Amino acid sequence: MRVAIVGQGYVGVTGAVALARQGHHVTGIERDPARLAALEAGRTPVSEPGLQQELSLARETGRLAFASDLAHTHLREPFQVALITVGTPPDGSGAADLSQVTAALAEVAALLPPPAVVLKSTVPPGTSARLLQAHPQMRDRYAYNPEFLNQGSALDDWTTPSRTVVGLWSQEPLALLQQLYGELTCPWVVTTPDTAEMIKYASNAFLAMKISFANEVARLCAAPDLNIDKVMQGAGCDPRIGHAFLQPGLGFGDSCLPKDTAALAHWAAGRGVETPLLDAAIAVNRAQPGLVRDMLREELGEQLAGCEIAVLGARYEPWSDDMRAAPSRALVPRLVAEAGAVRVWDPATDPEDLRRLFPGAEPCQELRTAVRGARAAVVLTEWPEVIEADWSLLAAAMAPPAVVVDGKNCLLPERLAGLPLTYRGVGNRLPDRVTAPAGAPRPAASA
Ligand SMILES: NC(=O)c1ccc[n+]([C@@H]2O[C@H](COP(=O)([O-])OP(=O)(O)OC[C@H]3O[C@@H](n4cnc5c(N)ncnc54)[C@H](O)[C@@H]3O)[C@@H](O)[C@H]2O)c1
Repeated sequence: MRVAIVGQGYVGVTGAVALARQGHHVTGIERDPARLAALEAGRTPVSEPGLQQELSLARETGRLAFASDLAHTHLREPFQVALITVGTPPDGSGAADLSQVTAALAEVAALLPPPAVVLKSTVPPGTSARLLQAHPQMRDRYAYNPEFLNQGSALDDWTTPSRTVVGLWSQEPLALLQQLYGELTCPWVVTTPDTAEMIKYASNAFLAMKISFANEVARLCAAPDLNIDKVMQGAGCDPRIGHAFLQPGLGFGDSCLPKDTAALAHWAAGRGVETPLLDAAIAVNRAQPGLVRDMLREELGEQLAGCEIAVLGARYEPWSDDMRAAPSRALVPRLVAEAGAVRVWDPATDPEDLRRLFPGAEPCQELRTAVRGARAAVVLTEWPEVIEADWSLLAAAMAPPAVVVDGKNCLLPERLAGLPLTYRGVGNRLPDRVTAPAGAPRPAASA
């Protein structure tokens, strides 16, 4: 099939590569000149494990191209289907800003001959119905097909999704989507566009609630005789609960959950519907980065002024350069305002970008340089360099009391035991003090 994908961000590039790999002829349409130039030069503009290699392979097949002008490309060789994967960022009120979707849909609606159109961007319930009022001729060729990929496993998630949700008014585009995606073994949930839109928001709201729930339990497990890791391990073993999204930390800070929970809450408020669970998940999340300051104050005294602090990691996740809602964005400026000096180390972020993102903080290229003389180190990304570091050397380089605040609960407390530092995680993570009776078999090691 000849496929256009309008919008080459995390979802669009992943889709373009995956569909070209599958055998379709794909053109990624991108309006941002810098992103387009990178793609045309064979470079992925977004950081995602394996994507660069797969992009190069897909380009070698001759089935993947990029362009800025949808209409012009369509004129030369018409597309059978146009996927829309443009951004839906939050506007100032928390609502989803639908301007990119509205504009992209109008561009596709103007094409002759008309292709089928599949909107994949996350939009509030009722959006498809409202937008299609301006393009009634497209209703029978329209499908809303939300994307559920996770950054970090985007290509795998695209090719082997847990489910394919399709919202449509006419059965016509369904056969086309089946042809597009090939033999997916996952369940297909076929419904109306409104319901499909709500499925995406409900899914993200639930994931956000799991994270906030884990963070609330971590507050309950602050006492030394309650180990948060074991509590979550024990709870997550129940298949009804599951381990995913049950890790305490500084809250959800990927590009989707913060904006989608805010947009759903805004959508509900506009209809006079109360959402106490969703509101609580958002409130817990908003308070999480404040925990770092609380822990620093508890360990260093009320006044942070004069203290040197090292921030280890700026990204929300090591595998993604998407820092739109990373906790570091809110936390580092607060530390800069309160502490004596703040140094930020992140091995995958250009020092100039760190300087631009965090005015007043000093970017560091070496982990040892960042912690040298610091009274506290705050871990914000689970970088292997931090997890596997020789903390005896780092502790020796720090100034007493050498406080380590682990905002990702990624360090192994057992490895830090006995070192001249004070470790604080989200909830108590100090090793259990369970002693086995003499001669009793040792319990199996836990993950
Ligand atoms: N990022 C994720 O992990 C993820 C996962 C699932 C769903 N989603 C949803 O998918 C959508 C896209 O997310 P993203 O993170 O890929 O967005 P993004 O902001 O990274 O990328 C969107 C791209 O679309 C381009 N664009 C906008 N209008 C255009 C137009 N008219 N023509 C050509 N290009 C245009 C922008 O320049 C940008 O490069 C969002 O609604 C998001 O909520 C994202």
